[in-house]
Amino acid sequence: MMSKVFSSFKFSSKLLHSTSVMGVRTFSVHRTLLSPFAVMYSEFGDPSKVLSKREIELKEPQANEVSVKMLAAPINPADINTIQGVYGIKPPLPAVGGNEGVGEVTKVGDNVKDLVPGDRVILFGGATGSWRTNGVWNRDTLIKIPKATPVVSAATITVNCCTAYRMLQDFVSLKPGDTVIQNGANSAVGQAVMQIAKLWGIQTVNVIRSRPNLAEVVDWLKGLGATHVLTEEELRSKATQETLFSSVPKPKLALNCVGGKNATELMRTLAYRGIHVTYGGMSMQPVTVPTGQLIFKDIRIMGFWMTNWHKQQGNNNEVRQKMFDDLCVMAQKGELKPPPMNKVPIEKFEEAISQATEKSTGKKQLLVMDSVAM
Ligand SMILES: NC(=O)c1ccc[n+]([C@@H]2O[C@H](COP(=O)([O-])OP(=O)(O)OC[C@H]3O[C@@H](n4cnc5c(N)ncnc54)[C@H](OP(=O)(O)O)[C@@H]3O)[C@@H](O)[C@H]2O)c1
Repeated sequence: MMSKVFSSFKFSSKLLHSTSVMGVRTFSVHRTLLSPFAVMYSEFGDPSKVLSKREIELKEPQANEVSVKMLAAPINPADINTIQGVYGIKPPLPAVGGNEGVGEVTKVGDNVKDLVPGDRVILFGGATGSWRTNGVWNRDTLIKIPKATPVVSAATITVNCCTAYRMLQDFVSLKPGDTVIQNGANSAVGQAVMQIAKLWGIQTVNVIRSRPNLAEVVDWLKGLGATHVLTEEELRSKATQETLFSSVPKPKLALNCVGGKNATELMRTLAYRGIHVTYGGMSMQPVTVPTGQLIFKDIRIMGFWMTNWHKQQGNNNEVRQKMFDDLCVMAQKGELKPPPMNKVPIEKFEEAISQATEKSTGKKQLLVMDSVAM
C-alpha cells in the first residue's frame, strides 16, 4: 500500500553553518524541515546536470521488506560513473543515486523476524539508491551491524573496505611478512588495503602520484600502516626498486586502481607467478601486459568487482557476514579508519557532487541525512 506520511517527518530547525576542523570541512546542521526525498536522475549524463532532489512517497514495507531512515551515504567514483551511464550496472530509470550507506530500521514486513525498529543496517548489492532520506529495501539487501560502529565507518564499509578485504583474501594465500604492492594507494580502497594488511602482518608498497604536499601524504599513509610509500616516478627507478626489494620480499599480489603505465610498472615488481588484480581504472588508460612478464614470470592478470562477488555468494551469508563482522570490529577498535570526509547535508548534494567530480580534493564526500546520529 502506498501512503504519504509526510507529517511524521516535520522537524523544526535549520542548517546553521560550516566550519573547518583539521582541514576537513563539516557542516553543523540541526534537523531540517524535511519531507522524504531522494537525489534522482531520469537520464544518464553529467551528474551536475541530471541529478535533482525529488519528494518520494513512503511505501509500507511488504512481507520481506524493511523501512529504513537513512543516516549517511558517501559519493564514490562508481556512483558518478553509474549516473554517467558508463558503469557495469545501468539501473532502470528514473533511479536514485548512490550505492552504499547506513540507516536505521523504522518498520519491518511480516516475514522479517531478525530486525526490529532502531536496528542499524547497511545496504549492499549494487546501485541500491542510498541517496535518500528514507527507503524500503528487501531484507536480503541489508546487513545488520552493531550500533557501536561509528556512523561514518558504517556508511563507507560496504564498497571500499569490503573490496580491500576480499582482494587481500581471495587471490593469493598471503602470510605474515609477505608483500602486496598497490597504486592509487591514497584512495579509499588503498587506505583500507594498507590498514587491513597491517593488521594481518602483511607489508605494503604503496604507490601514489606526486603532489606538492607529498611529505604530508606520505606521513599520513605511514600513520595508517603503509610499510613503504613511493611516487609513480620513484617506482620507475631501478635503483629505488633494488633498495626496496632488498628490505621486503617481492610482492605476491599487485592491486591496480589506476591502469595505464603504472599498472605495467606494478607487474614488473611482481614475484614469480605473482597475481595482478585490476579493480579500478582511474586514469582511463588500458592495462598493457609485457610479453616477457607472462612468459618468463608466468604472472596472472585478473580483475575484481565487488558486485560480482556478492552475486557469486548467492544466499551464502556466512562468508559475507564474517567479512562485515571482521570489518565492523576493526572500525570499532579504530584500526580501520575511514578516509577524510566532507560531511555535507543531503539537501546540499549539488555541492558534494561538484566536489566529488573535481580532481584530487583528497577527501570523500559524505551525504548526511541525520546530523544528530553522526
Ligand atoms: N572493483 C570494485 O569492486 C571496486 C570497489 C571499490 C572501488 N573501485 C574502484 O576503485 C577506484 C578507487 O575508488 P575509491 O573510492 O577508493 O577512490 P577515491 O578515494 O576517490 O580515490 C581515487 C584515487 O584515484 C587516484 N587517481 C585519480 N585519477 C588518477 C590518474 N589519472 N592517475 C592516477 N591516479 C589517479 C587518486 O589519486 P590522486 O590523489 O593523485 O588524485 C586517488 O588515489 C575507482 O575506480 C572505483 O570505481 C572498484
